Amino acid sequence: MASQVLVAANRGPLSYLLADDGTLTTRRGGGGLVSGLSAALARQPEALWICAALSEADREAVRRGVSEPGVRMLDIDPTTYDDAYNGIANSVLWFTHHHLYDIPREPVFDAEFRRRWESYVAYNRAFARALAQEAGEGAAVLVQDYHLALVPGELRELRPDLKISHFTHTPWASREFLDMLPDDIRAQLMWGMLGADVVGFHTWAWAHSFMTAAQLDDERGIAEPKTVAGADPRDAPYIEKMTRGPVPHRRTTVAVYPLGVDGDELRALAHRPEVNDKLAALRAEIGDRRAIVRVDRTELSKNIVRGLLAYRELLTEHPEWRGRVVHLASAYPSRQDLAVYRSYTEAVRELAAQINEELGTEDWQPVLVSVKDDFARSLAAYRLADVALVNPVRDGMNLVAKEIPVVSDAGCVLVLSTGAGAYGELREDALTVNPYDVSETAGALHAALAMPAEERAERTKRLASAATALPPTAWFTAQLAALRAA
Ligand code: G6P
Repeated sequence: MASQVLVAANRGPLSYLLADDGTLTTRRGGGGLVSGLSAALARQPEALWICAALSEADREAVRRGVSEPGVRMLDIDPTTYDDAYNGIANSVLWFTHHHLYDIPREPVFDAEFRRRWESYVAYNRAFARALAQEAGEGAAVLVQDYHLALVPGELRELRPDLKISHFTHTPWASREFLDMLPDDIRAQLMWGMLGADVVGFHTWAWAHSFMTAAQLDDERGIAEPKTVAGADPRDAPYIEKMTRGPVPHRRTTVAVYPLGVDGDELRALAHRPEVNDKLAALRAEIGDRRAIVRVDRTELSKNIVRGLLAYRELLTEHPEWRGRVVHLASAYPSRQDLAVYRSYTEAVRELAAQINEELGTEDWQPVLVSVKDDFARSLAAYRLADVALVNPVRDGMNLVAKEIPVVSDAGCVLVLSTGAGAYGELREDALTVNPYDVSETAGALHAALAMPAEERAERTKRLASAATALPPTAWFTAQLAALRAA
C-alpha cells in the first residue's frame, strides 16, 4: 500500500546480525539521527522508513524477504555502497561540513574521486526510485542527512506531486570549505538540496551557511537562477530557484528545528535494572571520586584527543585533583572501515594509556577508556557524571550535551565547546570553551569540579529544561506539519 509519510535515511532504525547457524536477529542502530527519528516514528505507525542495507547480514535479510513493519531496506550493490558511504559521504561530505581536512594533503579531487561520485549519484538515485515507488499521491517525504543530498532533486523529477523535505543533522560547511569542492560537484549538491520544499537544520548557524552557499553559487552563475533570501532570514527564510525539472519555478524554505531529548523516556531508560547494575560496577571502580564523563562515537569531529590533553593539563596544573577525580571516556566504535578513524581511535587509546602511566598511582587510574558499543554503560556513566565534557570541533547538534544534564543523578556541570550545535541553546548554563584551546578547557574542568553544589543544581535544572524543549516527537511533527503546509 502506498505510504503518506516516508522517511529516507542511510541508517535504519535497526540492523541485522547473522549467527553462525544462519539465524537473523536485530539490534538498534546508533547515532543521533537514529535515536531522534526512532522515537518520533514510534508514534507514526503509518510511516515508512527507507534505509540502506549496511552489512552482509542486512543484505541477507533483504534476500530472505525478512523485514520489520514500517522499514524497507535497499540492497545496493556493495561496491557502489562502499564508494558512496565511505568514499563520498563520510570521506568528502562529512569532512567538508565538519572542516576536518588536513589541508596540506587533503582534499584531492581526482579521477578516483569522480568514480566514487558516480556511485554516490547511483546510490541517491536508488533511494529516489524506491521513494517514488512507495509514496502515495501528494505524500510527505522527509529525507535525512548528507548521505542523501541529491535525493530531493532526483525525486522531484520523478514525482513532482510529492512534498519533499531534507534535514541535515551535521553542520553545513562554511563558504571556504564548500568552495573546495569542484564547481560542478558543488552545483549538483545544491541542485539536489534545493529540490526540497523545506530544508532543515539544527541551528541557525548551519542554516545561514547553507543560504550563503545557495546565494554564492547564483552570483557565480553556477547554480540555476535565482536565489532570493528573505529580508530577515530569521522570520521567513526562503530560497527561490528555477529548477531544470518539470516544475519550473519553486521556492525552498530554510527552517531550523533544534532536536532535543524526551526527558521522561530517557530517565526511564536510565533506571532500568541493567543500567543500575552497570552503575554499581562503575561506582565500585571509581569509588567516591568525582567523575568527568564523555560519551561519543569514535569520531574525529568529537575532539576526544584534545579532551584528554585538557584533562592531563588539569591534573598537572591543579595537582590537588589527583586521586580525587576519574575521567570516564566512552567512545563506541564508528566508521572503522576508514583508516583515519582507526588511527584516531588508536590515538585516543594511546593517550589515555600514557596519562595513566604518567600520573596514575597504585590505587588510582586517572582515565577509564571504553571503546565498545554499550548503551547501558553509557547511561550509567551519565548518571554518575559530575562534569560532562562535550568539546567537538564542529557538530550538528550533539545530543549527549542534552542527555547528560537530564539524567545525571546529582546534577552535573556541562563543559561545552562553541563548535557544538547545542551551544546556541545551552551556552548560558554551560561553561563554554574554544575546542582548540586545551588550556581553556582544562581551566573549565577545574571550575566545573570546584563549582558550589547549589549553583551546579540550578544550572542543571535550566540545562535540562532547554534540552527537553523540542523532544523528537514534537521535532518530527512540527516538520511534518510545515512540509504539508509548504
Ligand atoms: C551522525 C550523522 C548520522 C549518522 C550518525 C552515525 O549523527 O548525522 O547520519 O547516522 O552520525 O554515523 P554512521 O556512519 O554510523 O551512520
